[in-house]
Amino acid sequence: MHAVDVDLFSPGAQEHWYEAYDILHNEDPVHLLEGEGFLPGTDAYVLTKHDDIAAVVRDEVRFPLPGSMFVRQLVEAEVDPFEQPNVNVLMASIASLRPNPEMWRSHRQELTDPWVGPGASRNAAMVTQFAHQLIDQWIARGTVEFVGEFAQPLPQMVMAGVLGWPLEDLNLLKYFGDGCVQPFVYGTGPRNVLSEEEIKAQFKVLDEFKQYTQDLISHKRQHPQDDMISYLTTVEYSPLKRKLTDLEINGVVYAMVIGGLETTQYALAEQVQLLIENQEIWSTLQSDRSKVRAFTEEGMRLRSPTQGLSTRITSQDEVFQGVTVPKGSFLHLRWAAANIDPQEWAEAKSLKLDRKAGTRHLTFSQGARVCPGAHLSRLEQTVAWNVLLDRVGSFKYAADNTFLHQPGIMLGTLALNLNFDVV
Ligand code: HEM
Repeated sequence: MHAVDVDLFSPGAQEHWYEAYDILHNEDPVHLLEGEGFLPGTDAYVLTKHDDIAAVVRDEVRFPLPGSMFVRQLVEAEVDPFEQPNVNVLMASIASLRPNPEMWRSHRQELTDPWVGPGASRNAAMVTQFAHQLIDQWIARGTVEFVGEFAQPLPQMVMAGVLGWPLEDLNLLKYFGDGCVQPFVYGTGPRNVLSEEEIKAQFKVLDEFKQYTQDLISHKRQHPQDDMISYLTTVEYSPLKRKLTDLEINGVVYAMVIGGLETTQYALAEQVQLLIENQEIWSTLQSDRSKVRAFTEEGMRLRSPTQGLSTRITSQDEVFQGVTVPKGSFLHLRWAAANIDPQEWAEAKSLKLDRKAGTRHLTFSQGARVCPGAHLSRLEQTVAWNVLLDRVGSFKYAADNTFLHQPGIMLGTLALNLNFDVV
């Protein structure tokens, strides 16, 4: 197989992504996707090298996001972004709350950091409690479907707890979350294109989500509690020198739901496989919990949940690895490939608990747009493994696994039947 045979976006490509990354690194690290640009008549390029992607995400002027360009148009048009057809509340809230880099920073520092950023440690006891609660349901059985009975519900419960979303409506949180991520799962090609019918179905779910959240916000205004939505109803947002409207809060909730559910699910589901395939690492972690964090970082490096995103545009001609990429090209940043780039990582495909600066992987991106929920996700992963190490002797695969992944650009194992003994 050669670079011409590589198609990262065809059905079933998920099962061969890592072989494809080796080919691209060797033969074609800046991989042209003809006609797949953001605007008609332009091309897209898949970047696979750590240095290239790190440089791109650190320079918002040279490499703007198409979303930011759209937001700028909304702001310049001086229209109410929440009244525009086909603009979801997230996009509208970005136009209203963080249309420029300074406000993007304030949004993060004042609105999300206290809950899912550096302040996420406030959620440690809750995450621990939910992890135990899930394990209680299957620990006596000696078998577990790890995705459906642990990796998926844990981040859902945690996000519900953080937001103040009623736990009895967890099924709705999942339903709305699935609606938000439709393009990343069922969208085709590097631009994640949905059919017209799929878009209609998605907007129906998003409308329900918006209405449910509006009601929840009203309820929180009347009955505030110690949760993120209640906080957002009272906080004075410094760039605007005022409190947030219900619709603006709705946009922040949308961001938490689109980003905060399956990503961590996929991280946990891949990590359990790494542990089964590297039993000595499980034993090491059992005797030395200080290494759990290094393990989760290596897990995210080796099997990145978000494998890649088509997310930046070149604002001038650029040269990557000797390849000229014209102004106006769409860049697909393949975080997962960068994370096993042999020029960046010694023994790139080995799970090593003693890597220097092991957090420099690009799983959460880097720079000003770095994932705002990285702290929360890291907390969930480290707590989950500490609790599992406390209660499970070791995991093994049951006989009936397919190891298949869902479609789309995430690395989502569909199901994992495991056997285990207890500590
Ligand atoms: C292992 C788990 C996760 C992974 C791999 C991940 C990955 C990413 C990546 C690659 C980006 C794009 C950054 C860029 O364009 O430069 C991103 C953005 C984002 N992530 Fe995460 N993420 C994870 C968990 C979370 C969690 C737990 C939340 C919420 C609590 C979250 C919320 C977001 C949001 C809202 C954005 C869009 C940027 C913004 O609005 O500031 N993510 N994430």
